Amino acid sequence: MENNLKKAEKTKRVKWFGEARFGMFIHWGLYSILARGEWVMDLEKIPKEEYALLAKKFSPRKFNVNEWCSLAKEAGMKYIVFTAMHHDGFSLFDSNVSDFTSVKTGSKRDFVAEFVEACRQAKIKIGIYYSLRDWRYPAFFNGPMKNPKEWKKLVEYVHSQVKELMSNYGKIDVLWYDGAPLPPPDRPGAWDNFTLQEAWQSKKLNKMVRKLQPQVLINDRSKLPEDFATPEQYIPTAAPEIRAPDRPWESCVTMNDNWGYSKADSNWKSTRQLIQDLVRCVSSSGNFLLNIGPKQDGTIPVPSVKRLKEIGKWMKVNSESIYGCRSAPFRGGMVGLTTAKGNTVYLHVFRCPGKEICIAPVKRKIKSAHLLATGEKVSVVQNGERLFLKDLPKKQIDPYDTVIKLRLV
Ligand code: GLC
Repeated sequence: MENNLKKAEKTKRVKWFGEARFGMFIHWGLYSILARGEWVMDLEKIPKEEYALLAKKFSPRKFNVNEWCSLAKEAGMKYIVFTAMHHDGFSLFDSNVSDFTSVKTGSKRDFVAEFVEACRQAKIKIGIYYSLRDWRYPAFFNGPMKNPKEWKKLVEYVHSQVKELMSNYGKIDVLWYDGAPLPPPDRPGAWDNFTLQEAWQSKKLNKMVRKLQPQVLINDRSKLPEDFATPEQYIPTAAPEIRAPDRPWESCVTMNDNWGYSKADSNWKSTRQLIQDLVRCVSSSGNFLLNIGPKQDGTIPVPSVKRLKEIGKWMKVNSESIYGCRSAPFRGGMVGLTTAKGNTVYLHVFRCPGKEICIAPVKRKIKSAHLLATGEKVSVVQNGERLFLKDLPKKQIDPYDTVIKLRLV
């Protein structure tokens, strides 16, 4: 009985998420000053005292979170997940349990407050990323066994900060944990006898979160499954645990090779690939969380802006094939992928072979077909399991993905 109730509550809770399908991830913090990605403190073993000096310098003159929100909206994104604190331990919010915050140092600003306010104004759902990992705490590296007292302090600090984030900023839509590690292979024994969720007291933590924010969606990175799974840098298409219909998931993906701003990283994915990735997620009933890594001054790298605007142009006429859609009763064969909503299937044509397309097997009867962007009619012939779409315009209409809307009988 209770289980059914819990299930029904969850279904209700995750409804908007499954309809939204497309969100923005933002990695921004002190590491943006160094411009070598968000792992720079650990990868270069920068002593924490030296790293802390960056906080004095952090004064992002051009930070305008309203602009971030309008760009997300222009791209067709429905929610934003913002790094309130990453593994370096620097809080972009006011905290009673830390002095290493943006409010108590150089900038004297509460960026989480500004972010939340801007999202509310723009009517974008609000996601908060919080790292359970804090590299400044030796306890984190030692694990809970070596020094249980120190570990307890770390866990208390984490719980207090999550409580602050869930209490001080009004309604929050997504809590996006990160950073609970696997037992470090080079420190065998550090985590013995503790499952990770016991170590972080995740059950207790999330119970508190749900009490404060009953509607919030919680991701799976506190080592409890909660509301949705978070495949990172890949898009699952076959894994049964992820494709299970009642298990929402969201792939988070970077536009180049880094989450945080990296000056030397020019390995940008093409707009075409990003649109295909979005469609690929939706075609397997998942969400796509696409990252930007703003610079220290708060501006977004030009290649990211360009791509988001291009995606937005495509979304403007094709978003119907994304929002509220899921996997379709038949696949796109060699031309592309399919998404579906109710009695409509959207065929995403990434590779148009010419004036005619054939996909198979299609076991459903098609009533009509149109180009989604223009409404132009497409002729349909069905021969057994083979569906032919004929007399297509010679030139592919969309440089990235021409969507054909198929109405099923
Ligand atoms: C990883 C990384 C982190 C990044 C995150 C995004 O856990 O440690 O830097 O924020 O993935 O999914």
